[in-house]
Amino acid sequence: MDLSSNERKVLRALAGGPLAPPVAAESAGLGEQEAVSAASWLRTKGLAGIEEAMTEMVGLNDEGLRYAESGLPERRAVAWLAEQGPATVEQLAAGPLTADEAHIVIGWLRRKRWATLGKGEGGILLKPTGDAPEGADEPLLRQLASGAQPIDSLEPEALKLLQGRQILQRSQQVARTFSLTDAGRAVLVELGDDELLGEVTPEMLQSGAWRKGRFQRYSLETQAEPAQQATLHPLTKFTEEIRGIFLQMGFTEIEGDYVESAFWNMDALFIPQDHPARELQDTLYLDDPKSFLLDDEAAVEAVKAVHETGGDTGSTGWRYDWSREVAQQALLRTHTTVNTIRYLSEHPEPPVRVFAVGRVFRREALDATHLPEFTQVEGIIMEEEASFGMLIGVLKEFYRRMGFPDVRVRPAYFPYTEPSMEVEVKFGDSWLELGGSGIFRPEVTAPFGIDTPVLAWGLGLERLAMLRLGLKDIRMLYQSDLEWLKTAR
Ligand code: PHE
Repeated sequence: MDLSSNERKVLRALAGGPLAPPVAAESAGLGEQEAVSAASWLRTKGLAGIEEAMTEMVGLNDEGLRYAESGLPERRAVAWLAEQGPATVEQLAAGPLTADEAHIVIGWLRRKRWATLGKGEGGILLKPTGDAPEGADEPLLRQLASGAQPIDSLEPEALKLLQGRQILQRSQQVARTFSLTDAGRAVLVELGDDELLGEVTPEMLQSGAWRKGRFQRYSLETQAEPAQQATLHPLTKFTEEIRGIFLQMGFTEIEGDYVESAFWNMDALFIPQDHPARELQDTLYLDDPKSFLLDDEAAVEAVKAVHETGGDTGSTGWRYDWSREVAQQALLRTHTTVNTIRYLSEHPEPPVRVFAVGRVFRREALDATHLPEFTQVEGIIMEEEASFGMLIGVLKEFYRRMGFPDVRVRPAYFPYTEPSMEVEVKFGDSWLELGGSGIFRPEVTAPFGIDTPVLAWGLGLERLAMLRLGLKDIRMLYQSDLEWLKTAR
């Protein structure tokens, strides 16, 4: 039979008879945890038994501990009477006892013959007899003050005296003992003084002892307990992965603020000022700050012109009176496309390949597939040769690297792109819509002096994470369920 060196040690420790775990550990020269684990292996192999014995224990409750510290009420009363002379119960309650204690103390003083009763002016007087010998209860109280004791070890008479007072607390203690089975004893005999070598020490190498010894065998298949350690949140890992992919594909990361003006979030993207997405029920506007001053006057003039007349893009524009006040409204960004258009306004020269991963905010009801705050993976490519085919290629490549080989696009509409498309990935038997993309319209790029094609996309992160992690409910991602967080991959 294969026995580890710890198992051998415990087997030998038990040769003299059953032992409690700490004792077995000590005589085996092991830590208690190791000894317990070795003993349970020995039990699995039929060589040892682990008996559990239940012991009834008696200890003190909080009130009992108070008594142990300051004395039984009758002891405190009689000490006080000895000093102050005869007194009434009321006087005791105003003196060394609580009202409850004063209530029961007459009975105990009489029973123990520590005081007699007499009539006085203020009612019944308690007179100390001058003799207050200790019974069995007070030593027991002191004994229990140091911790619960097995009930069998206590003097029954003393226990009875304390039992009436509701100061005792019972509990059960499980004591384990390890012992050898017959098979264990047989193996022990066989074993003789055959020792196994565990670790190779420098001394063993020097003396050559390792040549003569036998080594403990290790099983590489044994399941170890999973270690509990801090891990990154799955969404954080996911975001890192996405960053890695875009960086590898030659993109630079950009960032932006949560709070934006409607101008950058919408007007600069040729979203008309009466567009339904701008309504209060869709977009979260701020009270403080309520609005921003627009500082890029040239951009404001050019954007106003494309909205009203199309400027010099050849478009007719939306044909309405563009309002600066509406454009100045402060809001929580509704998409990260605001980051890329801002970047383009400052970097109108090709080539540009940038991406952003960031949180966006929409006034949506929370449910299993919708979050009012979620994350978008945004990107643009501005290059002379950029084309619709290239856009599809880049998106497919991104999703392929994320582990979703099946991607399809469908025609869609966004005010700022033409053509526009929706991106869907296949999961199981169904297609899931994960984002939008397209080529920025001239009405978007011309105000910034750009005439190079700009490919753009904005993709949802959480839905993709949901697919990868096999979640049915998107809210799980933000619920901080520790059990799930420990195991989510
Ligand atoms: N901004 C769009 C959205 O939030 C996605 C998109 C980005 C579409 C870029 C086209 C181009 O859904």
